[in-house]
Amino acid sequence: MEILILPTAGHAERLAARIVADRLTAKPELVLGCATGRTMEGIYGELVRISRAEGLDYARVRTFNLDEYVGLAASDERSYHHYMQEMLFSHVNLRPEHTHLPNGMAADLPAEAARYEAAIAAAGGIDLQLLGLGNSGHIGFNEPLSSLMSRTREKALAPQTRKQNAGMFGGDPDAVPPRALTMGVGTILEAREVLMIATGAHKAEILATATEGPITAMVSATALQLHPRCHVLVDEAAAARLAGHEYYRWTLENEPDWAPYRELVRA
Ligand code: GLP
Repeated sequence: MEILILPTAGHAERLAARIVADRLTAKPELVLGCATGRTMEGIYGELVRISRAEGLDYARVRTFNLDEYVGLAASDERSYHHYMQEMLFSHVNLRPEHTHLPNGMAADLPAEAARYEAAIAAAGGIDLQLLGLGNSGHIGFNEPLSSLMSRTREKALAPQTRKQNAGMFGGDPDAVPPRALTMGVGTILEAREVLMIATGAHKAEILATATEGPITAMVSATALQLHPRCHVLVDEAAAARLAGHEYYRWTLENEPDWAPYRELVRA
């Protein structure tokens, strides 16, 4: 795992979008794992801007989202299907049949979960997985005590998560669907590269626990410590509780992999 500390959330968003754009340019048939949430909004906005400015071609790109609420139709404005249309899919030349989200309306949810896993495998696995960090320490909707080997399945949401996501549901946590279909921690760990983004002072505590704390099923993001190619982009506010911040700053300034991105960080 590598942690990169950027001056502001805007810098973290621009760097994340730049990395996605570069991976897509290097591999036009990229399989991109998409995340949702407020953190991702700025990243998709910037990715759309870069895509237009540079004429990025998504014709062969395939996407797989982490999760979807159980009981929300794709047409529901509060669904992640709708979110993805609004934030990314409708702005680039992705083919609709190349975009995948779990179907929260499926009559047989275990069968839908198995179908989703098979679709990821048939696409050759995920090249780059984007991740946000939930207040409960979740990645996807892998709430506390999710098996670190779990696969796509139905999961009950933690009260904390329903509170965090209430904004889309008129501010009422009880209006947030209580269950979701989510990729498992094991599914996420199989992505060939992982990019987690956490910004804002409200993420400082959970970010430190997730990255520097012991690996535990209580905080599914700690499983990322096992991943061989995981980058964590954070802003100064989210980095406030990181014990190793001096080393992480050194990484960004000195590791050759990040040399092409240093200008972007200073801008
Ligand atoms: C939701 C998603 C998670 C995401 C989280 C972060 O719960 N299911 O995948 O990580 O939101 O939310 P935010 O970026 O709004 O803090």
